[in-house]
Parts: sequence; structure tokens; C-alpha cells
Amino acid sequence: MVQPIRTAVFPVAGLGTRFLPATKAIPKEMLTVVDRPVIQMAVDEAREAGIEKFVFVTGRNKAAIEDHFDRQFELEATLRQRGKTAELGLLEQDLPAAGQAMFTRQQEPLGLGHAVWCARHLVGNEPFALLLPDMVMHAKPGCLKQMIDVYQTHGGGNVVAVEEVPWDQVSRYGVVGAKDWKDNAFRIDGMVEKPKTAEDAPSNLIISGRYILQPAIFSEIARQEPGAGGEIQITDAMIRLMREQPFYGVQYRGTTYDCGDKIGYLSANVALGLAREDLAPGFRAALKRILAEHDPL
Ligand code: G1P
Repeated sequence: MVQPIRTAVFPVAGLGTRFLPATKAIPKEMLTVVDRPVIQMAVDEAREAGIEKFVFVTGRNKAAIEDHFDRQFELEATLRQRGKTAELGLLEQDLPAAGQAMFTRQQEPLGLGHAVWCARHLVGNEPFALLLPDMVMHAKPGCLKQMIDVYQTHGGGNVVAVEEVPWDQVSRYGVVGAKDWKDNAFRIDGMVEKPKTAEDAPSNLIISGRYILQPAIFSEIARQEPGAGGEIQITDAMIRLMREQPFYGVQYRGTTYDCGDKIGYLSANVALGLAREDLAPGFRAALKRILAEHDPL
């Protein structure tokens, strides 16, 4: 039987320097898309895919994330007193069950691979999902759910979500080489982290920020020398693990918004605002007005 994926790791130690001053006193993962913090959206996606254990790799100044996944006693008492049952229900629905959320700290910013390695004791000897919360995936079913279907079809292994980007953007990402396509899934036959030029990239399929990894990745990370940007890269550890274990890619069906980037963040707010039935009519009218003002014909 294929080992189920029960644990998800969320690296949330990053400083958010691309979003200053917004992220001076609040973690970038608490920035909201419409009314949900970005980190909550990644947790929602993991929950939909059947995840039961949520491991957050945090850092200093990230206490708001822990508070977000805890009860807010005063707020709940006040809402109860005022009979605001809808708001109470909303909070209740998002609250992880007791003991489901766990936190560890990455003490120094040594790279994504290192952040994942910090979670090794909390994950244990099981395959796990890795979700980079900056990347907001708008998909139905969710991206991780689509990946778990591929994981089960292939009887296990490692799975990475990918998407196509214009060739002039490949150097910003991890890039994979693809063979043996079947529907939207394929076997990965090469990976490069942040190729210097388009010629160094095996394709224009980039690693989107969702992974299913076998626990052997931890010992590969431990042996890893710093790579691109002087950081311990998860991609370099995956390249080593690929010598022993299969890696599959999934060109998932949906849209990614890179919320670590201002245009991506603004786009996510527009797209997800328009996707909300309760907001769409008013928001659409407001957007039309704004566009007409800024872009008169
Ligand atoms: C990380 C990964 C990269 C991936 C990207 C997705 O890079 O190392 O392979 O394509 O996330 O956002 P980072 O954005 O941390 O530089």
C-alpha cells in the first residue's frame, strides 16, 4: 500500500524584504488575499488534500502565525456575547484541532533546504508535503490534492508541481526536465536551481512551490553544500535523491500567484476577489470604474 501523506511542512521563516514596510512588524505570510492570510490559504489547500499534521518552520518575529492558529479568547467571548454566530463559525472552521499544528524555528536564514531540514524531527520517517505559502494556487481541486492523486497512481515516489513560464523568466526558479508524459504528469529527468541562462534550463517548466517528498530527503540535505545564492537548496538535495528514487512532475490545473511579488500579490487579490460570489458584483463594478479612470480611452 502507498504510504499516505499526513504531514505538511510550511517554511515561514523568510524576512519578507520584498514587501517592506508592510512586513516590518508582521510576517509576510499574514498578508491577506481578500480576507484570508496567505498562510491560511496554504493550510486550506493542505487540509483539502487530507493533511492532519501541520509543521511550521518559523523564525523570530513570526509569533502572529502561531496566534493565528490558536484561539483568540477575548475576541471569541465578545463575539459570543454579541450573538455573532456567523463570525464565530468562521473562526471555528479554520482552527486546527488540538495538537495538529506544530512549530519549530530556523535560527538562521541558510536557505529553503535548511528550513525543511529543521522540520525533520517533527516530520519523522514518513513522506510529507512541502508548501511554499508565498505561492498561492487557485485551483479546483487544490494543487496538493491533484499531486496526491498522481502520487497514488504511481505507487509513491516524489512529486513536484510545475508550470510553464516564459523562457526569459526561467532563471528565477528551479526548472525540471520532463519525459514520458501521461496526461498532465511526467517523469522528471533533470533539475536545475536558478539556471544562469535559458540555455542552461532543461525546459521552461518551473517548480511551483508544492512538493511531495520521501523522508530520505533529510539525509541528502544534511550532506548538501551551499548552492545557488550561497544557500542550502532543496532542489540540490532533490537532484541527489533522484539518483535513487523516482520524481514525477504534475502540470497542475489552476493558476499560481506569486504573492512574494507585488504584481503577483495584487493580481491574487483581484482574481480571488472576483471569484468570490459575495463580492464579485460590487467589486467588478468598482474595477471597471478604476480602470476607466486610470486608462481613459
Ligand atoms: C524556491 C525554490 C525554487 C522554486 C521557487 C518557487 O525558490 O528554490 O526551486 O521554483 O521557490 O517559488 P525561492 O523563491 O525561495 O528563491
